Amino acid sequence: MAPGWLRKASFYQVYPQSFHDSNGDGIGDIPGVIAKLDYIRNLGVDAIWFNPWYESPFRDAGYDITDFYKVAKRYGSNADAKRLFAEAHKRGLKIILDLVVGHTSLDCKWFKESEKPERNAYSDYYVWSPIAYYRGSGKGDDYFISGWGPRGAFLANYYAVQPALNFGYARTEHPWELRYDDPRCRATKDEIIRIMRFWMDMGADGFRVDMASSVIKRDDGKKKTIAFWREIRRMFDRDYPENVLISEWFDPATALKAGFHIDFCYNSFWRAGYRPEKPDPNWPQMAMAETHFTDPVPAIGPTFELIQKTRKKGYIGFYSGNHDSARLRYYGSEANTIVKLAMLFTLPGTPFLYYGDEIGMRYVENLTPKEGGERRTGSRTPMQWDTAFVNAGFSTAAKEKLYLPVDDSPDAPCVAEAIKGNNATYDAVTRLLALRKQHVALDNDADAELVYLRHRRMPIAYVRAKGNEELLVILNSSRNVVSVRMPKYKDAEELLSQSVRMAPDGTFTLDSCSYGIYQIRRTNRRRA
Ligand code: NOJ
Ligand code: CA
Repeated sequence: MAPGWLRKASFYQVYPQSFHDSNGDGIGDIPGVIAKLDYIRNLGVDAIWFNPWYESPFRDAGYDITDFYKVAKRYGSNADAKRLFAEAHKRGLKIILDLVVGHTSLDCKWFKESEKPERNAYSDYYVWSPIAYYRGSGKGDDYFISGWGPRGAFLANYYAVQPALNFGYARTEHPWELRYDDPRCRATKDEIIRIMRFWMDMGADGFRVDMASSVIKRDDGKKKTIAFWREIRRMFDRDYPENVLISEWFDPATALKAGFHIDFCYNSFWRAGYRPEKPDPNWPQMAMAETHFTDPVPAIGPTFELIQKTRKKGYIGFYSGNHDSARLRYYGSEANTIVKLAMLFTLPGTPFLYYGDEIGMRYVENLTPKEGGERRTGSRTPMQWDTAFVNAGFSTAAKEKLYLPVDDSPDAPCVAEAIKGNNATYDAVTRLLALRKQHVALDNDADAELVYLRHRRMPIAYVRAKGNEELLVILNSSRNVVSVRMPKYKDAEELLSQSVRMAPDGTFTLDSCSYGIYQIRRTNRRRA
């Protein structure tokens, strides 16, 4: 059983170091987020996902953890976390934490114990090859950092500073590999369960699991990994039935089988229709997007196939962007961004809005990479609250002390102006979120059917349906004016639109970058 609130829930992602700084040290913090909870609530979202806030040397912006049970000093304390849970819950908001399950920091005390030649409780927490200069294949889940110390080489999971936690191998090939069902591998899983219980018992409402598919190594077909997570899901069903398990797996069909309620979809098709100002072939996320610029429409079909395939099994998480991708606004004009947001909030599954995307914050070019962010750094700049204030109201610190510079372009958007009614993206986001609340056909589990899709051409149209309600969504993210005749929908009633005209015969004319949402049928009209 999935928690009932997921039927309607939309999520907001907060990158804590860049959201709001309460004490003027230049880095966002938990009390800063507490001060902005009303803003988040008023957007109309239901839950907040936080990037990791645990103690860390920040060589991968906190995805390299030294103490999983402790909030990093720069964000505040565990007492602040507890206060955040309470304040969020008072406002009907859920708080989802990031669970980095596949690795720790090199500086983690578990690793420091594990690297000692004398056997101790942490010896098997990591994978050690006694061959000092062993490198593995260097690919996938077989990438060793050689020349390390008395125990040889260790298995890394992402960057070299992130040693992989040892959950065993589905198939062993070397004497130092433990099988996934070896009792010596159980300790790491128990540790993960302890971490999850620790935060949920304090008030957290679930987790977004980092690299969820990376736990058990050499697991072709992922059978053992699926069983691993199913056990955790049983714990949720039994002890935390209202809490959510979200995976960063990027394979919803498999992840939902493993018991995750939501898995992210690699949604490069948002970027359909526009080329980035500066395409960067060295950035994989960008390269992926590129394929869809030249041929945008084909990404939609497979996405709907995936939606059908995973129906009733859980939710696909679609996102406007995140801390690993370029900002949505990077790929198009304001109007184009709005069309993609309209799609985000009308597709089935669970929408995730990245902080700042609601006002159209930009990817900031040419920043010095920060904390392992590399090309991702430009998507991680401080939230722009009010450009009339120093540092756009993010922090009172001196400019040089900020975590990252604030976008200083003269037309940088900000929340204060948006709230005054001067930001079309914000208007669209708040209206779309309100519409989701009013219409069951926009529920995350409502049906979805593609009703218009032609090779290489906009528009696209789909129908959402649930109970007695059916809605039509029609979108054009291209530069061209397009039109389509759909007599079946000639009596549809407009709910929300941007630059679409509908003629009495059911011809929809869509200007460059436009969308429309229409009610086709609604019996049993609910009364307010
Ligand atoms: C995925 C996270 O989203 C990313 O930011 C991080 O660098 C890697 N996993 C490693 O934990
Ligand atoms: Ca601070």
